[in-house]
Amino acid sequence: MEQLSIPHVPLLDGGSIPLVGTGTLFAKGNELADGLAACINDGYRLLDTAAQYANEVAVGEGVRRSAVPREEIFITTKIAGVDQGRDFTRRGLEDSLRKLGTDYVDLLLIHWPNPSRALAVETWQEMLELQAEGLVKHVGVSNFLAHHLEELYRATGVWPVVDQIQLSPALARTELRAFLTERGIVAEGWRPLGRAERALEQHIVNTIAARHGVDGSQVVLRWAVQQGAVVIPASKSRERWLRNADLFGFELSDQEMTELATLDLGEDKAWDADTHEEW
Ligand SMILES: NC(=O)c1ccc[n+]([C@@H]2O[C@H](COP(=O)([O-])OP(=O)(O)OC[C@H]3O[C@@H](n4cnc5c(N)ncnc54)[C@H](OP(=O)(O)O)[C@@H]3O)[C@@H](O)[C@H]2O)c1
Repeated sequence: MEQLSIPHVPLLDGGSIPLVGTGTLFAKGNELADGLAACINDGYRLLDTAAQYANEVAVGEGVRRSAVPREEIFITTKIAGVDQGRDFTRRGLEDSLRKLGTDYVDLLLIHWPNPSRALAVETWQEMLELQAEGLVKHVGVSNFLAHHLEELYRATGVWPVVDQIQLSPALARTELRAFLTERGIVAEGWRPLGRAERALEQHIVNTIAARHGVDGSQVVLRWAVQQGAVVIPASKSRERWLRNADLFGFELSDQEMTELATLDLGEDKAWDADTHEEW
């Protein structure tokens, strides 16, 4: 099989990120390491992990088991809630680097804003220092709402390059994404298949898929990448991970995008980062 060719989208800081990556919650240990190595050998370059997933050792092992050099791979990890705040952030990253077996990560995110602890700004300031020291190439956040992002910008004058959010046609996050787009912040969708919201079972998704000769999952993922959002679906099946990145040979029409917009369940159905906290 020919290798997948996955385009990049530009980041605010002058870098770029692949539009499709793989999540890492599909397996553990050796199974995860071997699965990731195979994904990388098939053409995946973006890997999404987090300190909280307790799988960084296997992710690092997957990179080493692949045939691709470390510097061609884009590793994202996240600062866990327990590691927010001055000094803790540095220790959190150092721990991740040791587990991953690498001396830098490509993208470091604050996993959740956790507003009750009010440590996001300190964490962000420390991340900018870690970036200046070369331990991190790009810095961003996850699950931040517009007002959480504004707080970081007010304190530092620097916007995160990425906001990784729950995103699928069933949770379209339209207002938040408009805010991100206006500032050049890339949206990255977690749980991008919208399985819990039954996006793949919708008649309109399957009608559009049949029209293009693709799978419903490809329609749902194409909906995001066509708008410049990165997606990180995860699968332990090779057939599925190949399909999940095969999104660039067809285009959804304006009419089809309008039809998919009817699937949005609304912001109320997304996890509310003002009240949902993860430490
Ligand atoms: N920032 C955050 O707070 C946050 C939260 C949650 C997740 N994440 C990240 O986002 C990644 C993706 O989220 P996720 O793993 O929860 O959900 P997901 O990728 O949307 O869905 C994974 C599930 O979908 C199945 N699947 C994969 N491809 C499929 C396809 N083409 N057709 C039908 N089913 C398919 C997989 O089963 P099989 O393995 O059997 O194919 C698996 O059960 C995670 O791995 C993690 O890195 C981030």
